[in-house]
Amino acid sequence: MNIGIDKINFYVPKFYVDMAKLAEARQVDPNKFLIGIGQTEMAVSPVNQDIVSMGANAAKDIITDEDKKKIGMVIVATESAIDSAKAAAVQVHHLLGIQPFARCFEMKEACYAATPAIQLAKDYLANRPEEKVLVIASDTALYGLQSGGEPTQGAGAVAMMISHNPSILQLNDDAVAYTEDVYDFWRPTGHAYPLVDGALSKDAYIRSFQHSWNEYAKRENTSLADFESLCFHVPFTKMGKKALESIIDDADETTQERLRAGYEDAVYYNRYVGNIYTGSLYLSLISLLENHKLSSGQTIGLFSYGSGSVGEFFSANVVDGYQNHLDIEGHQSALKQRNEVSVEDYETFFKRFDELEFDEQQDKVENDQSIFYLKAINDNIREYHVPE
Ligand code: COA
Repeated sequence: MNIGIDKINFYVPKFYVDMAKLAEARQVDPNKFLIGIGQTEMAVSPVNQDIVSMGANAAKDIITDEDKKKIGMVIVATESAIDSAKAAAVQVHHLLGIQPFARCFEMKEACYAATPAIQLAKDYLANRPEEKVLVIASDTALYGLQSGGEPTQGAGAVAMMISHNPSILQLNDDAVAYTEDVYDFWRPTGHAYPLVDGALSKDAYIRSFQHSWNEYAKRENTSLADFESLCFHVPFTKMGKKALESIIDDADETTQERLRAGYEDAVYYNRYVGNIYTGSLYLSLISLLENHKLSSGQTIGLFSYGSGSVGEFFSANVVDGYQNHLDIEGHQSALKQRNEVSVEDYETFFKRFDELEFDEQQDKVENDQSIFYLKAINDNIREYHVPE
């Protein structure tokens, strides 16, 4: 059955902090952030972009009136929930004006949840050839000012339309998931920031990747040479590279060279955005599709990882003419046109986001009427601006 990603788009807030300047402010050698972690810029979220508005912003440019009639399910994957009961998908469904007879819900397993959302969408569509599913991965990655995880923060959302006869990627029936109960990163209810054992999280990620990949290669009787490129969950660009390097010696030299070059193209956008948790793998996929030369039918391997932990390796094939369904120029200019904020301003943004503190003067500058944004919170009810 031919089901996969028909449309894909991302949204990131229009502010960023320069990682070299953050390093200086934290009295760290800038090369630790730039090379050791592999991040150049980090998206900074204003108080008026939450997981709902970012998700709606990622979806609004790919969703047509025809789609709104055909979407039977909206799933928001997130680990930055703004409510413990009401699903962000319900608000996204409303903001986008999707037909009312739809299932809407939220999924959670750290950075992994968008992947089971896609697999669920694929299974759901198997018996519903006319329907579509909107999958959104939306997160604000916050570890705290001056914390160990601070250089691996970020914010953003990725929206994907899953359908029959997709225009971009056909998903294969080969996913292998690997679950291991580990406390590498978790956020107990009520905690503003996650608890994280950084060294353990790196080890757990690599172990999960190796188990998922080895089992996948055994079941599918395949090798690295069969892949044009691999995409990874990218909490920071050095992480996926470490995972790739941990198995690359099994491949011939040509394959090694190809996979290493593909990896650099696949993390290009992530290097300038930072960690967007559930959306990181899919931002990396967009980066690969838009910055790497691919041909129809080629196979891409994807590794998804969520601390706690669940990993999953699966594959997809490139669809002929996929380039015509991407917004390469729009994405590159959206990244270039962001505003740099000083470390001092980043700290102010951070505190305002944390404390949900709106600032009339600053918000006038931030509010772009052409996008969704959070206008106010009254009686614990979030009100959003809806673009014309
Ligand atoms: N120049 C170049 N590289 C440098 C450097 C310098 N001056 N100083 C340090 N480095 C390198 C280190 O050698 C290390 O590389 P390695 O991992 O290849 O050995 C890297 O920079 C990071 O250094 P480390 O000491 O591990 O940093 P840290 O203790 O500050 O922790 C994280 C880094 C990513 C673990 C931390 O930011 C974190 O906990 N992030 C959140 C959790 C996370 O993202 N986990 C990923 C899996 S989900």
